Amino acid sequence: MPIPAEPTRQPFFWPIDGFAFGGDYNPEQWSPEVWREDIRLMVEAGVTMVTLGVFSWGSIETADETYDFSAMDEVLSLLHEAGIAIDMATPTASPPIWLLQQHPEIVPTSREGLHYSQGGRLGWCPSSEVWRRFALRIVGVIAERYAEHPAVRMWHVSNELGGGNRHCYCDASMIHFQQWLTERYGSIDALNQAWGTAFWGQQYGSFAEILPPRDSESAPNPALMLDFDRFSSDALLEHYLAERDAIRAHVAGAPVTTNFMVAQGPDVVDYARWAPHMDILANDHYSLAADPQREQELAFSADRMRGLDTSRPWMLMEHSTSAVNWQQINRSKDPGELIRNSLAHVARGADGVMFFQWRASTAGAEQFHSAMVPHAGERTKVFREVCELGGILSSLGEIAGSLVEPARVAILFDDEAGWAWKSGEKPHHSVHPSHAAREYHRALFNRGILADVVPPWADLERYDLVIVPALYLTSDADAASIAAAAHRGAVVAVTYLSGIVDETNRVRAGGYPGAFRDLLGVFGEEFFTILDGESVRLDCGNWIANTWSEKVHADDSEVLVRYASGQLSGSAALTRRAVGAGEAWYVSTRLEPEAVDALVGQLLDAAEIVPTVPVAPGLEAVRRVDGKRSWLFLLNHSAEPISLAVTGTDLADRSPIAGSLTIEAGGVRIVRE
Ligand code: GLA
Ligand code: GLA
Repeated sequence: MPIPAEPTRQPFFWPIDGFAFGGDYNPEQWSPEVWREDIRLMVEAGVTMVTLGVFSWGSIETADETYDFSAMDEVLSLLHEAGIAIDMATPTASPPIWLLQQHPEIVPTSREGLHYSQGGRLGWCPSSEVWRRFALRIVGVIAERYAEHPAVRMWHVSNELGGGNRHCYCDASMIHFQQWLTERYGSIDALNQAWGTAFWGQQYGSFAEILPPRDSESAPNPALMLDFDRFSSDALLEHYLAERDAIRAHVAGAPVTTNFMVAQGPDVVDYARWAPHMDILANDHYSLAADPQREQELAFSADRMRGLDTSRPWMLMEHSTSAVNWQQINRSKDPGELIRNSLAHVARGADGVMFFQWRASTAGAEQFHSAMVPHAGERTKVFREVCELGGILSSLGEIAGSLVEPARVAILFDDEAGWAWKSGEKPHHSVHPSHAAREYHRALFNRGILADVVPPWADLERYDLVIVPALYLTSDADAASIAAAAHRGAVVAVTYLSGIVDETNRVRAGGYPGAFRDLLGVFGEEFFTILDGESVRLDCGNWIANTWSEKVHADDSEVLVRYASGQLSGSAALTRRAVGAGEAWYVSTRLEPEAVDALVGQLLDAAEIVPTVPVAPGLEAVRRVDGKRSWLFLLNHSAEPISLAVTGTDLADRSPIAGSLTIEAGGVRIVRE
């Protein structure tokens, strides 16, 4: 089944009144007495919605076509009586053991040819017809049973698709991949041409000769790798659509979604291409303990979520109340951090704050993952903060449905471009495809400037500054749209490693960066990688660069900064060209943070963009608006109180703020202006 070219989402509506607040509820782990205790605590915390059933398949279909819904029915009734809405999940993230025993062939096969064993999450191949049949059967049974249940307000397909089955290299996948390629290329000659198979004499005689990029001792063709990434994303999206349609066959009038894992990218699947098929956009976000700038990484993820569709709020479907259990060292959150993280997502457009999971497991694979109700129970920092957060969200009701104030800056981001850079041999294997996006976003974040992180084919009309950070793969159409933004009057800033290959992962010859050469007025002749631990100086202040540089001729542009040391000493590092009513800047190297900050300052000046509120170190300020009113979210990430000039009403207690406000260290204030 090909992926529909047009969006297939329903018209947008939110499943409940106000904010969704709650988490994954996995009652199969507990006795009916505990369920009653859960409901009491949910009501105490102000929970408005839970996601039910994510891992329930083995409990409800206990053997092939033998169903026992007694426990599930009772839990739905208890939730409904308590006024808690249900986001009903299909249980296909964890197939039951009886199915895996009966059909071990549905379990994925690794690149090395290892056929995995039963018991993993998402332990199934999306190309397996046997899998699809059993999955759609249970989905249909559940959808039919609960379609009319008054508590069920939303449907949740599987869980984090691709997180456990991103690639499968089995024979069923191979055949599915061959079909996908046939549709994409039409003829084998077209594929041979697109993939450049003449090199190493790898011409295919027919689509049936093409294998997934299974393990071999030397490097595979990067075009094959990129197409296999695209195919794998489509195979999972196809499965999503099949489950969604099996739900829709019974359910009308409730949105259907699945939870994305949008973070730094490149992602396991291509979320920007999935988004048009989601009734609600939902994300799971987990901070990495080792990340020194966790709050900025959170903002980057949230700005990517909003960038998938700036016209509607999205839902934070999962995050953690404190430590996770899957990192090398799992860091617990500071007092207040749970609330600050939650409201940071809300500030950037989330109308739901949900967690994994409601009650901490005592057994099973996630027994040391934090939850809304910890092992220790109610008398804990975590549960107190969960209750406090529930109170805060209920006081914010008037904000639900509003949007984030339109950003004037766009950062372009594309999973395909990241996958292309990661496919096969490259000049420098420690260049991460998302570093540039994250680094320019960080400079904006530190300066209090909101950016939408959008796919390169987004409408750029409303942006005054467009940053193109290491967009390695760029299509002709996207390059034209970016150039048009400059002609129209935007400041466009392109960084190193952009526009190098086309959609077939083939280098654009004739001088780098091929897709942007004319726009930028530069001609790049060679890359000069900078070895790990080394750096080069630039002839501007104390600017330093590392990792990557390019020998660029400023044929039709002005040189603003040159390399002052290293192999390229004296040649152009930063250029600018006047284009129509706008400008096009090129930065051919990876600048260190101080230099990125200085450059971003220049770009903002050129685009005449100023912050939402005067910046203070550690202060995050984001505004939500609804056409009539506006609300300012003020988050203090520092260890000192921050005072600033604000007038309005504090939403926490409806008290007036007459001209100045102090936000305590680690605190958050939300002000109706
Ligand atoms: C070897 C091979 C060549 C080429 C080079 C690349 O020498 O014989 O075909 O792959 O490595 O460095
Ligand atoms: C993901 C999953 C959850 C849980 C958490 C743990 O978000 O969707 O089921 O495993 O990770 O952090």
